[in-house]
Amino acid sequence: MIAQIAQLREEALKAVESTKDLPALESLRVRYLGRSGSVTLLSAQMKEVPKSEKASVGKALNALRTDVTTALESALARLKEEAERKALSGVDLTLPGIPLSEGGMHPLTQLIDRAVQIFRRLGFAIADGPDIETEWHCFDALNTPEDHPARNEQDTFYLPDGRLMRAHTSTVQIRTMVSHPPPIRVIAPGAAYRRDEVDATHLAQFTQMEGLCVAPGIALSDLKGTIEFFFRELFGETTKIRFRPHFFPFTEPSYEIDILSDDLGGEWMELAGCGMVDPMVFEAVNTHRGDRAYDPDEVSGFAFGFGLDRLAMNLCKVSDIRMLTENDVRFLQSHAFKN
Ligand code: PHE
Repeated sequence: MIAQIAQLREEALKAVESTKDLPALESLRVRYLGRSGSVTLLSAQMKEVPKSEKASVGKALNALRTDVTTALESALARLKEEAERKALSGVDLTLPGIPLSEGGMHPLTQLIDRAVQIFRRLGFAIADGPDIETEWHCFDALNTPEDHPARNEQDTFYLPDGRLMRAHTSTVQIRTMVSHPPPIRVIAPGAAYRRDEVDATHLAQFTQMEGLCVAPGIALSDLKGTIEFFFRELFGETTKIRFRPHFFPFTEPSYEIDILSDDLGGEWMELAGCGMVDPMVFEAVNTHRGDRAYDPDEVSGFAFGFGLDRLAMNLCKVSDIRMLTENDVRFLQSHAFKN
């Protein structure tokens, strides 16, 4: 029996040492240590070993099992290492890696952040409202009657229940006045929607920033001063601002604001609408509130609405508005502001 064990050990260790791959190694493990493997079968013969030899044969069998197990383990380690080395042999580890491209804050976000910082210094708070609006908040309350062309079905997107995607952020003027009595000084950045064919200069969703200031004695000079301060802070002292008379149903008088700045390519650029809040708007709010908090004989106010997309395009020097929504990392890496 001892001789048999010695022979099996020699055969097994030799076989294991010379295995060339993992499947062969696995079949050797089965052949020697498996349920009907040679080592197991030999161990089964212990029954027939005379009592006096049991101890020494048992010891030898244990040693055999341990040695074969150890040999299998080290062969496994050797084969794995060989396989790895082979896999890596065709790889040039000195080649440069694939760089991860870094994004950045969207230029519109940068613009909004800057605008908010500036208006905060003037005491403006941030107001908010939903993108899905009622016709009343979007039009009626803003003195835009049923037959006004801005209410054309083609102008914005209507939901089956009659609500709509707000066509401008001026809805936030109404929401703020309905929920807060004067004095009010808020800005409201957010999305607005129009049913435009999307092309290089139009998107169906764009970004505006609304402003509203209402208190006793607010005058047109306050509006002008605020707008001038804002754009000079944003684009520098040399920035020029021009007010052009215009019409909006919810302000009277109304203006369009053009600005001229080196940062924006040195050409006059139409940026915003603004004006003094129309008394009809105050009255609509009063009716809704059920009080006279916004009595036009007691308070007055100004409102403005900037389009931010064209500003962002100009600051980042792109001529296609769709760049704002395409998520191209090269665009996201550009900085709206130099400093
Ligand atoms: N809501 C107007 C627009 O989208 C802009 C505006 C806002 C005009 C506030 C006057 C006052 O064109």
